[in-house]
Amino acid sequence: MLFACAVFLGALVAHTSARYSPDWKSLDARPLPSWYDEAKLGIFIHWGVFSVPGFGSEWFWWHWQGQQPPDPKCVRFMSENYPPGFSYPEFAPQFHAQFFDPGEWADMFKASGAKYVVLTAKHHEGFTNWASPNSWNWNSVDTGPHRDLVGDLAEAVRNRSLHYGLYNSLYEWFHPLYLSDKKNGFKSQEFVFHKLLPELYNMVVRYRPELIWSDGDWEAPDTYWNSTEFLAWLYNDSPVKDTIVTNDRWGAGCACKHGGYYNCEDKYTPGKLPKHKWEKCTSVDTLSWGYRRNMKMKELMDLHTIIEDLVRTVALGGNYLLNVGPTPDGMIPPLFEERLRGVGAWLKVNGEAIYASKPWRVQNENATVPIWYTSKGTTVYATMTTKPSQTTLYLFEPRTSETTKVTLLGNPKPLQWSSIYPNTGLIVLLPELPFTSGQAWTLRLDGVQ
Ligand SMILES: *[C@@H]1O[C@H](CO)[C@@H](O)[C@H](O)[C@H]1NC(C)=O
Ligand SMILES: *[C@@H]1O[C@H](CO)[C@@H](O)[C@H](O)[C@H]1NC(C)=O
Ligand SMILES: *[C@@H]1O[C@H](CO)[C@@H](O)[C@H](O)[C@H]1NC(C)=O
Repeated sequence: MLFACAVFLGALVAHTSARYSPDWKSLDARPLPSWYDEAKLGIFIHWGVFSVPGFGSEWFWWHWQGQQPPDPKCVRFMSENYPPGFSYPEFAPQFHAQFFDPGEWADMFKASGAKYVVLTAKHHEGFTNWASPNSWNWNSVDTGPHRDLVGDLAEAVRNRSLHYGLYNSLYEWFHPLYLSDKKNGFKSQEFVFHKLLPELYNMVVRYRPELIWSDGDWEAPDTYWNSTEFLAWLYNDSPVKDTIVTNDRWGAGCACKHGGYYNCEDKYTPGKLPKHKWEKCTSVDTLSWGYRRNMKMKELMDLHTIIEDLVRTVALGGNYLLNVGPTPDGMIPPLFEERLRGVGAWLKVNGEAIYASKPWRVQNENATVPIWYTSKGTTVYATMTTKPSQTTLYLFEPRTSETTKVTLLGNPKPLQWSSIYPNTGLIVLLPELPFTSGQAWTLRLDGVQ
C-alpha cells in the first residue's frame, strides 16, 4: 500500500510540473506561455556601439573589417571621417546615451499598443548593454553610457505592465575564443563554456526576461552552443521557467524547426497559415535595424504599410515585432515615434480584432477590397486595408444566420446587410468611413460561422 501511494504521488508530481530533457523532442513539446500569443505586437530595439558610426547598418563592423573583401562604402566612410588607425572599440566612449529616459521610451511603447519590448542585450559586436562580468571593459557600465541600460529599461517597461524580452547574439564576430573554436571546426567549445553560457545564465537570473530572442546561431550546430542543455535549464529550473518564451535561432538548421515560436527568417512573410506559432520581425527603417545617421524618410515604412503588415501577420497567426533604432544619445528618432503612436491610435479603435484573437477558418478574401480575417469565438473580424470605392462591401466567406449582426469598430450603430446566397456571404452597406491615419477599418461580425 505504501509503495502504491509513493508511485501515485510521484506520478502526480511529474504531471503537475513537467520536466523537459535536453533534446528537441522534449523541448519542442513545451506549450508556449499564453501571454505571448495574446500580445500580438512587440517593439524591437537595436541599440549598441554600432549606433555611434550609424552608417550602413548594425553590421557596420563586420562590413568594414570582417568580411572579405570589405564593403568599400564602409572603408571610405572611415577614411574620410576618422583618423588613420581608428579602431571600432574607440566608438564605445561616444555611446553617451545622455538623453536616455527609460520612462519616456516605455511611455512611447505603451502608447504604440505594444504588449512587449525586446532590447538587444548583446549584438554580434559582443558589447553588452549591462555589466556582464564576462565582457570586461566591453559593456555599457565600464564604458560609454556608464549605465545599466538593460536594467533601467526593464524597470520602466515592467512599470507600464509590458513584458520584457532580451535579444542575445550567440556568436561574436571577433571574440578570440569564438574565432579559435571556429578554426577547430567547432570541435572545441571554449567560447561557449567560458563566455557565452556563463553570461547567458547570469543575464537570465539578473533580469528575468520573459522572452529570449536568440540570434547569431547559424555558423555552428546547436550541439556546439549547448542550446538544448541551456533551454532545459531555462524551462525546468530558471527563475522564469513558467513565463519565458524563446524563438528558434539555437543552431544551424534550427530556424523554422525547433525552439519556442518561429521567426524562420528576418521579415518572414508566409503566404498561408503556418502550423506553428510564429513572429514577423521587421523594421520601420527598411534598410537597417540599428540607427543610421543618413536615414531618409522615403526609406521608412509609412503608417499604412505597417498597419497592413500587422493585420496580415495577425490574420496568419503571427506576432508582429516592430523595430526602432535609437541614436547613441538615447533618442528614438521622432519619425519612428510618430509611426509608433500612429499604430497605437489605430489599435485604440481596432485592437479588439488584434489582441488575443485567433486565426479564423479563412484568412483572407479579395471580393470588393482585400480583407483579412481574425476571430474570437463566434465573433469574426474583417479588416479592410483599402478604402472601397463604393458604399457596399461584399464578403463571400462568412456563413450568416438569423442572429448575424454587423458593426464597424468605433461606431456602435449596427450596419444593414443582406445575404448573397442563402446563409452564405453578405453585402454590407457601409457608413461613411472615418478618416484614420492607418487607412484600415474593421467590421465586427457577430453570429457568423
Ligand atoms: C510604477 O511606478 C509607480 C511609481 O513608482 C508605482 O506606484 C506603480 O505601482 C508602478 N506600477 C507597476 C505596474 O509596477
Ligand atoms: C554541454 O552539453 C554537454 C552534453 O552535450 C554536457 O555534458 C555539458 O555539461 C554541457 N555544459 C554546459 C555548461 O551546459
Ligand atoms: C488576394 O489577392 C492577393 C494579391 O493579388 C493574392 O496574392 C491572394 O492570393 C488573393 N487571395 C485570395 C484568397 O484570393
